[in-house]
Amino acid sequence: MEDYVTMNSGDGPKSYTMNSKIQKEGSDQARWLLSTSIQENLELQNTSRVFSIADLGWHKEEQSWKYPNSMSFSMTMSPTISTRCLRPFHQGKNYMAAGVPGSFHSRLFPKASMNVMHSSFAIQWFSKVPGEVTREDSPAWNKGRVTYALSSCQVVKAFANQLFKDMEAFFRARSVELATGGLTVVLMPCRPEGTHPSESGIHFLECLGNALMDMAKEGLVDEALVDSFNLPVFLPTPSEVKEVVSRNEHLDIVTLDEMHQPPPQLSTPEGVRLWTIHIRAGLEGFLSKHFGSSVIDELFERYCQKLEEFSKTPHFTRVFEFKNLLLLAKRNGVC
Ligand SMILES: C[S@@+](CC[C@H](N)C(=O)[O-])C[C@H]1O[C@@H](n2cnc3c(N)ncnc32)[C@H](O)[C@@H]1O
Repeated sequence: MEDYVTMNSGDGPKSYTMNSKIQKEGSDQARWLLSTSIQENLELQNTSRVFSIADLGWHKEEQSWKYPNSMSFSMTMSPTISTRCLRPFHQGKNYMAAGVPGSFHSRLFPKASMNVMHSSFAIQWFSKVPGEVTREDSPAWNKGRVTYALSSCQVVKAFANQLFKDMEAFFRARSVELATGGLTVVLMPCRPEGTHPSESGIHFLECLGNALMDMAKEGLVDEALVDSFNLPVFLPTPSEVKEVVSRNEHLDIVTLDEMHQPPPQLSTPEGVRLWTIHIRAGLEGFLSKHFGSSVIDELFERYCQKLEEFSKTPHFTRVFEFKNLLLLAKRNGVC
C-alpha cells in the first residue's frame, strides 16, 4: 500500500476497524450482486491448480477475524470457490493467506497468476496529490481548500485527471496479473451519473478545509501548510470509470452497477459526532503527517462544528446523496 494513506490502527474507539460501518454497509449491500456476478462470470482454466484471490487496499493493521469488510468479501467468495473447485474451503486446512507489500497502482503478483482480485473503498485514493494544485504559480493552485468541492474548473480537472491516470495504472496491472477468465472486482464510492464533480459528498470533506483555514487565521496552523495540503481523492461517475476500463483491451466489463448508500445521519449532534469520528479514523494519519499530531484534536472539534453548520444549509441536501459503484471486469483471452 501507499505509505501515506494509512487508516487509524488497532481496535480502539478512534480506530478504522471500529469506525468503518459505512464501508461495511456498502460491502453488505453489494454482496448479493457481487456473489451472483462472480458465479456467472468467473471462468477457471484449470480447476486442479491453486485458486488465488487478492484483496487490494486491505487495512494493514487488522486481523481478519476482527475485520468485517474484507471478511465479508471472503465469505462471499467461499461458496463460489467451493462450487467451482469442487472442494470445501476451510481456513487453516486448505488455504494459505499472506500480505503483499507495495502499491496497487503497480504490479504486485506474477503474470496470469490470479483468479479474483478485489478492492473495496480504496481506489478513489490517488497515488499522489497532483503537483499543479499545490504550486502557487499554477492556474490550478487550490489555495485554502483541501478538496475540489468549491474550487475552479482547473482544480477539478487536475483531481479528475490524477484519478483517471491512477485507475488506468491499477487496471493495467490487474489485467497482467489475472489469468484468462479471472475477475477484477472494485467497490468504490462514486457520484451519481450526470452530476458535476462538485455535486457530491466531497463537500463533507471540504468542511475540514474550512476548519483548517479558521485555525490558520488564528495562528494555530501555518496558512502555507493549509495551501499545500490536498486530500488525494476524487469521486467519479460510473460512466467515467467505464471509460477508463474500456480503454484496457484485456478487460471486458461484466457488471457495472450504481448502488445507493444509506447516508450518514447528521440531523442530531450525536450523528454529527459519529460521522466526525468516522472521518477522523480514515484521515488522522494523513493529516498528522502534514500538520503534526498536536493540532488533530482541535481540528476535529472544529470539523464537527463546521459539519453541523453545513448540515443546516440548503446546499447540504443537494450533495447529500451517497453512491457506491460495483464493477466486475473479466480478463479476456487477448494476449
Ligand atoms: C478506506 S480504507 C478501505 C479498507 C477496506 N478495503 C474496506 O473496505 O474497509 C482504504 C485502504 O486503501 C489502502 N490504499 C490506498 N492507496 C493504496 C495503494 N496505492 N496501494 C495499496 N493500498 C492502498 C489504504 O491503506 C487503506 O487501507
